Amino acid sequence: MFDTMTLTKITGALCGSLLVLLLGKWAAEELYHVGGGHGDDIAQAYTIDTGSDDAAPAEAEAVDVVAVLAAGDADAGAKVFSKCSACHKVEAGANATGPYLHGVVGRNVGVATGFAGYSGALSAVADVWSPENLYAFLENPKAYAPGNKMSFAGLKKPEERANVIAYLATLQ
Ligand code: HEC
Repeated sequence: MFDTMTLTKITGALCGSLLVLLLGKWAAEELYHVGGGHGDDIAQAYTIDTGSDDAAPAEAEAVDVVAVLAAGDADAGAKVFSKCSACHKVEAGANATGPYLHGVVGRNVGVATGFAGYSGALSAVADVWSPENLYAFLENPKAYAPGNKMSFAGLKKPEERANVIAYLATLQ
């Protein structure tokens, strides 16, 4: 049979393991619960450690883009397009200061037939005008493709970009 000392040791060992388990659980919760208490500091340290500074916001934005684009309103976008119509026409083949935008959603970059004013800066950074690419380009054309010839400040509001893209998507 066990003597008292053995029982005490076993009990002590069990209590010790339990304490370690509880501490471990607490530490894990602190580490992985971003946004609460010390979680903020630790989450930030994690971002710097992995060098994923750029990747993290991009991922967060990718989620937003899908949601925001899904909410795009083509009628509202037709009004936003008045900011573009000084340079762009929507009829196929009708080039102006900018290339015609008929069918531009899903169109390859820089392929409007007969448009001679392409700088090549846009096709250097994108292949196809997917809604996501348009969304990024229209926010800040100069920053998106340095050296491109579209003299337009950009549409800062995500809804405006989503709406105008929804409108452009109707021009098929
Ligand atoms: C001041 C004139 C001007 C305005 C305003 C303007 N654009 Fe442009 N846009 C251009 C020019 C010029 C290009 C060609 C740029 C290049 O190749 O460097 C262009 C290119 C584009 C392209 C790429 C087309 C292709 O065939 O690859 C898209 C898409 C576009 N513009 C959309 C818009 C939208 C949407 C707006 C309004 C929110 C707008 N632009 C406002 C002049 C303008």
